[in-house]
Formats: sequence, C-alpha cells, structure tokens
Amino acid sequence: MSNTDEKKPISERLRGLWHMLSGYRLLYVGALIAVAFAAVAKTSSFLVLRYMIDEVLLRDEIGRAVLLIALSFIGLALIEGFFTFLGGRLTARTAEGITRQLRDQLFDHLQRLSFSFHSKAQTGDLIQRVTSDVAAIQRFFGEQVIELGRILLLFGINFTALLLLNVELALVSVIIVPVLSIVSFFFFRKISQLYEQYQEQDARLSTVLQENLSGVRVVKAFARQDYEQDKFERENHSLFVRGRDLLKLHAYYWPVTDIVANLQIIAGFGVGALMVINGTITVGTYLAYAGMIMWIIHPMRGLGRLIVQASTGLVSYQRILNILGEPQESLTEGSVEPQGDVRGELVFDHAGFEYEEGQEVLHDISFRVKPGQVIALLGSTGSGKTTLMNLLPRFFDYTSGRITLDGIDLKAYPRKYLRRQIGIVEQEPFLFSRSIRENISYGVGRDVSEDEVIEAAQAAAIHDVIETFPEGYKTVVGERGVTLSGGQKQRVAVARTLLKNPRILLLDDATSSVDTETEAEIRQALDRLMEARTTFIIAHRIQSVMNADLILVLDKGRIVQRGTHDTLVNQPGIYQQIYDLQARVELELEREIAGV
Ligand code: GTP
Ligand code: MG
Repeated sequence: MSNTDEKKPISERLRGLWHMLSGYRLLYVGALIAVAFAAVAKTSSFLVLRYMIDEVLLRDEIGRAVLLIALSFIGLALIEGFFTFLGGRLTARTAEGITRQLRDQLFDHLQRLSFSFHSKAQTGDLIQRVTSDVAAIQRFFGEQVIELGRILLLFGINFTALLLLNVELALVSVIIVPVLSIVSFFFFRKISQLYEQYQEQDARLSTVLQENLSGVRVVKAFARQDYEQDKFERENHSLFVRGRDLLKLHAYYWPVTDIVANLQIIAGFGVGALMVINGTITVGTYLAYAGMIMWIIHPMRGLGRLIVQASTGLVSYQRILNILGEPQESLTEGSVEPQGDVRGELVFDHAGFEYEEGQEVLHDISFRVKPGQVIALLGSTGSGKTTLMNLLPRFFDYTSGRITLDGIDLKAYPRKYLRRQIGIVEQEPFLFSRSIRENISYGVGRDVSEDEVIEAAQAAAIHDVIETFPEGYKTVVGERGVTLSGGQKQRVAVARTLLKNPRILLLDDATSSVDTETEAEIRQALDRLMEARTTFIIAHRIQSVMNADLILVLDKGRIVQRGTHDTLVNQPGIYQQIYDLQARVELELEREIAGV
C-alpha cells in the first residue's frame, strides 16, 4: 500500500473520529450526560448518608430515621441504575451504528479501488482492517471513551464533594493519585507494546497453519510433515513465551497497585478518624468520605489502561484512514456518454503499458481490428498476453501511444460501460460459493430465466456435467458444496460470460484445462457466438487460433509476427515452430493409437 506509513497527527485523528460521530453526536453526548447523572447519584447517596447521620439519626427518633435512610438509598440506587442503563444503551447504539456505517463505507471503498491496488494489497491484511480494526473503533466509542469519561467524572464529582466537606482531608486523600496514574500509563504502554508483539506472533502462527492447510497436498507429496510440525512448534512456543510474559506483567501490576491504593485509602481513613476525634469533622462526614474515597482511588488504577487502549483505537483508525485515502477508480466518469452498444472496432496505435513506472511490459503494440473479427494472441508465458487483454476493460490504462474503440479514445469511455460491453473469461476463473445457477447468471444485471441459464451452460459444454450433480443447478460450488475440476470451472465461467452477451469477448486461455474433445465442443459453440462480435482469444493450441482473422505472436511484450494461419505457417518463426511441434506430436499420437 502506498501510504501505509503516512501518519496523521493525533489531534487530526481525534477530529476525524469526532467527525465520524456525525449523526450520532446527540445520542453520544446523551450517553455521557447519563453517565454523569449516575455518578452524581452515587455521590449523592454518600451525602445523604452524611445528612442522615449528622442531622437526623443523632437528633430524631431512631425508627423514622432508619426508614428515611433506607428509602432515600433505594431511591438513589434506582436513579443511578436507571442512568447507568440509559448510558449503556445510548453508547451501544452509537458504537454499533458507527461501526456499521464504517464497515459499509470501507466495503464500498474497497470495491471501487483499482486493479493495481488490489494486485498489491494482501487480502488477509484488508480483511483485518474491515474486521479487527473496525472492532477496535467500536471498542473505542463503545467502551473506552465512555469509561474514560466515567472515571474522570467520578473523580471530578467525588473530589469536588470532598473539597466541599473538608479541603485538607480531600487533598490528603489524593496525594497518590497522580503517581498512580503516571505509573499505570507507563505500565500499560509497555503492556501494549508486548501485546502488539503477541498479536504479530499470533498472526505468524495463523499464517503457518493456513499455509500448511492450503498446501497440504504439497506437504504430503514431499513427505515434509516433520519439518512442518517443527516449524509450527517453534512459532507456537514463541507465542507461548510472549503470552506468559504478558500475564507475568499483569500479575505484578494489579496486586502492587492494589496495595498502593489500599495504603492510600487506609491513610485517608486514619487521617479522617483523627479529625473526627479532634472534632474537625463529624461522624457523618467521615462515613460519607469513606465511601467516596473508594470511588476516587480504585478507578484511577485503570486510567492508564484506558488511555493506552484508546490509543490503540487511534492506531486502528489510522490504518482505516490509509485505506480510505486510496484513490477510487471511477466507474462512471468519462468524457463521452456512449449510447447503445459498441461496434467493436479497435485500433492499437503504438500502444505501450507499464505496471511500475519505468518498466514497460508492452512495447509499441499496433494493430487494427474490424467489428466481428477474431484476434488470436500467441506467445510464451510472461510475454504479455493477459496484460494486453486487461487494457480493454480498463482494468489498467495504457501508458503510451493510443488505443481507440470505435474511433474514440479508450480512456474516454466510462469503465462501467466498457465492462458491460466486454465479456472476459479469465485465465484462472473464480467462482463464488453460491449455486451454479447464481454463478452463471452473475453479472447479467437482470432476471434471467432457467432456460437461458441452461442454454448458456449447453453452449459451454457443461450442462451435462451439472445434471449429474445431486442438486443440479442448485448445487453450491466450493467449500460446502461440490468441488469442480479446473476444466469444469472454466466452462462455468464461459457460460457466465456467454449469458452476459457482450459485444467484445475476451477469452484468456479459456479452454486450457479441458481435453481436446471438450475444447472442440466449446469452440463450436463459441464459433456461433463469436459471429458479429469482436473476440480476442489467447490459447496455446494451434487449433484454437488457426481460424482467427489475425494472429499476433507476442514475445517479451512485442508483436514479433502477425498474419493469418496460412501466411504464418509458411514463415520461419515462432509460429511455425509451434505448429511443427504440435503437428508432429499429433501425428505421433495418431500413429500410436492406430497401433503402427
Ligand atoms: P501466461 O499467462 O503465463 O501465458 O503469460 P502472459 O503472456 O499472460 O503474461 P502476463 O501478461 O500475465 O505478464 C506479462 C509480464 O507482466 C510478466 O513479466 C509479468 O511478470 C508482468 N506482470 C503481470 N501482472 C503484473 C502485475 O499485476 N504487476 C506487475 N508489476 N507486473 C505484472
Ligand atoms: Mg496470461
């Protein structure tokens, strides 16, 4: 990813997060207010306690006082409970709403990123950003900010109340608080670094496992189970060590700070008790103070943790921002507004292309295609055939020279329009884990009848195979359903493209995984379909390309030979060599079969 390392300053990220709240701000502020009310109710109960003891209990008759005390405590507990509940509800609504919005936004954005982005990005990494990073944002809003607010409010309200009761006592009681907060901040910063390493190791272990599972055939074929097991054990041990260190640190922190916090509380109790004896404060004040000090000291131990955790939320937010900052490729932008279908006349005029700047992969490509013609691309592996095809739907844009479609620059067409006009059967077609019917009708953009699907399947010579599946066209492809062979997948992909009925057909090695007989069957069907539409065929078999109107032989990104089969076969060059080789193999095969 180009700008992964780019970091926005924290203030800007915080502003971004605030921006993200739009639409939920009222709810969220409401949640904070509810939390504040709950905190006030809690503190009030201590003040009520003080009032009851000092003003009522010591003067009035006991029975009535106890009843009053009980009632007001119940009342305040109810109020506190209600506001805590309300705060929780509002917070959850906000956090869920924001993350839903964010996930949608990310998914939508990922859909619109360019081919070049996706060919560089790692799928696992992207998935992690849409899942765990979004979850981190959810925790940020749903737990950390509110909890931070709650701790600060509890501190603020209780401390103010203490100050009002007795300034000296209040100050004595919080001496340790700054120390506790600073220690806790640095401790959790350390913890979070360790935790990051732990997570990285966890990811490494998953990668080993995942590679082992997807490469299980290779592992077995090379009998490398022991090696793989050693590798896994090593990574697993390393994870164990990190996890243990992490727990060890935690095991120190909580008991130690518990002792420190409790010493502070005991000291506060002691000072308070002395003040009661000296008559500086009343018994009621003392009891109220005893309750409030708990709510000042204990939550403070978690302050550092919250700050550190909230900062991981900021890191996640940065990772999400980096994706959202990637430029989208516009589907609808274009300087022409094409009406109807294209005719399919293509002109390559000294066109060139580079994936990376300065490394041209296609050089000086020039040829001309009339509507309805069939162009065949032939050439060794890596010679640029797929790359050339990918220029047509504007998966990538050519970088030099010019390509025109129906006389108009290719770059002037909106991508969406081009992609609707162009059908492509990719070299390694991908099928979704959905039913075969859904896979075939994918991308047609309208309701298709059962008959149309069957017709396309028949044309792609896959209908009979589908019929043998337990649930026919409803059979689910992939993990939970049937496993299709490479050739079957290719034919489903051919059916899918045929049903789309595009004006320009791109077949990238579409019949490489099927036997010669099936290929002939598909080719017949394709021949019918190729009528009146411009077709590009990439193939390695001479039979697949010999009927083309124009054969282009590519080598290292250049056209080295061009012409029809009849001219090329009589010309010394790559084509003739391939032809000789394949013809000879076939002759030998025929002889073998005939038993000569
Ligand atoms: P086969 O499919 O194996 O027959 O080869 P091909 O003729 O289709 O070759 P292709 O067009 O896929 O690749 C041509 C050259 O471009 C090769 O040198 C590849 O390494 C390079 N290439 C292909 N795809 C990419 C890409 O996404 N990024 C970069 N940087 N290079 C690529
Ligand atoms: Mg290819």
